[in-house]
Amino acid sequence: MKAVVWHGVGDIRLDDVPEPQIQEPTDAIVRLTASAICGTDLHFVRGTFPGMQEGTILGHEGVGVVEQVGADVRNLNVGDRVVICSTIGCGYCSYCRAGYYAQCDNANPNGPDAGTAFFGGPKATGPINGLQTERARIPFASVTCVKLPDVVSDDQAILISDIFTTGYFGADMAGIKPGKTVVVFGCGPVGQFAIASALIMGAGRVFAVDRVPSRLDMARIQGAEVINFDQEDPVATLKRLTGGVGPDCAIDAVGVDAYHASSGPAAQQAQQQAEQFQQEVKQIAPDLNAQGEQWTPGDAPSQVSEWAIQALAKAGTLSIIGVYPMTDTFFPIGAAMNKNLTLRMGNCNHRKYVPMLIDMVQSGAVNPANILTQMEPVTAALDAYKAFADHQPGWIKVELTPSDPSMPAEPTGPREVSRDSSVG
Ligand SMILES: NC(=O)c1ccc[n+]([C@@H]2O[C@H](COP(=O)([O-])OP(=O)(O)OC[C@H]3O[C@@H](n4cnc5c(N)ncnc54)[C@H](O)[C@@H]3O)[C@@H](O)[C@H]2O)c1
Ligand SMILES: [Zn+2]
Ligand SMILES: [Zn+2]
Repeated sequence: MKAVVWHGVGDIRLDDVPEPQIQEPTDAIVRLTASAICGTDLHFVRGTFPGMQEGTILGHEGVGVVEQVGADVRNLNVGDRVVICSTIGCGYCSYCRAGYYAQCDNANPNGPDAGTAFFGGPKATGPINGLQTERARIPFASVTCVKLPDVVSDDQAILISDIFTTGYFGADMAGIKPGKTVVVFGCGPVGQFAIASALIMGAGRVFAVDRVPSRLDMARIQGAEVINFDQEDPVATLKRLTGGVGPDCAIDAVGVDAYHASSGPAAQQAQQQAEQFQQEVKQIAPDLNAQGEQWTPGDAPSQVSEWAIQALAKAGTLSIIGVYPMTDTFFPIGAAMNKNLTLRMGNCNHRKYVPMLIDMVQSGAVNPANILTQMEPVTAALDAYKAFADHQPGWIKVELTPSDPSMPAEPTGPREVSRDSSVG
């Protein structure tokens, strides 16, 4: 079968790989009917999240049909349609039982202190082969797979597998209450769902910061007040638009591949920090393999933390869902401490939220598929990776399908139910 395989920094290939096998009685084999490319995959290819093992199948988003179950998988039948949670939890350790599935004691083969276990990640996360392929072994399947009602389509469910859930998790950690003012840094797919979730939770105002026009457009259609950091200083603008107070809650949906402003008023400050940012990139990602413009890392890993901490209201909350690797030690702790900020962060505890989000989609309250802008067959995944990594106009979220590509309904943002949606 075909799979997208990590061979090195800047080197992913479409390989023929062996079919997966049941290894534990708690495993299932799922035939994938949809997968996707996440911003996290880009960090692995750019080298800004080091530690990948050659030969690992990439991808941690999946929807499919159960083909085989191990003897201890008692809630799934062969033929069931399921969404696969990106992070893997056993369901019985104290962390899983408290909802911290991303800190499961048993799912990571490297032991309880090795960190989050997820599909298609670095060596320290398993490694467990990923989902950008035709079939996959799903550990702890009775917990990691969640059955889908017929009315929830693959296009909707693939977004619940990781990014809607992560956006919701980010908004949940940000402590959003009705009326609060929120700023979301990053209008990629995860940021779009952080915006949607903040609105669902009753945020009074949601600001969205990015510099890619098509991504800012989608945020604006959702109802966010948009700020292009290549045209305005985001901190000064956030302060000005909130009467000098700043937002109550900030969500970092960018992660390690953050950029500083390259034009506009914020570029001047960035020039003064150029050396500092270069040092950060050097320490975080010692092994790069940029090929021209392709696979270049972000140029300012601490930029979003800095902006968020400066912009937040005193005693505000910063929620970090953007991914940073273990090699990153650059957080402006002093500025955060002296404003009495609350910091919350982490890998998403997908299984905690997935059933609730399925219900929300089933009810028709949200159509996450409105964020999908591209559908590509897995066999075209390498070109899709490049277009998504380059933030090409209109490339916001790419679904990978085993069949022929066909465009979904016009993308408008996840809160608006599309006319063609099967959800009423
Ligand atoms: N915590 C989790 O469990 C989890 C799960 C999924 C994804 N993620 C992470 O979420 C992040 C976003 O994922 P994505 O798929 O949306 O990625 P993406 O790369 O498509 O989007 C990132 C966006 O940030 C913007 N950006 C860059 N620098 C910025 C800055 N200084 N200020 C504001 N915006 C800036 C980019 O223009 C881009 O639109 C990634 O770091 C990814 O690894 C985390
Ligand atoms: Zn992801
Ligand atoms: Zn567990």
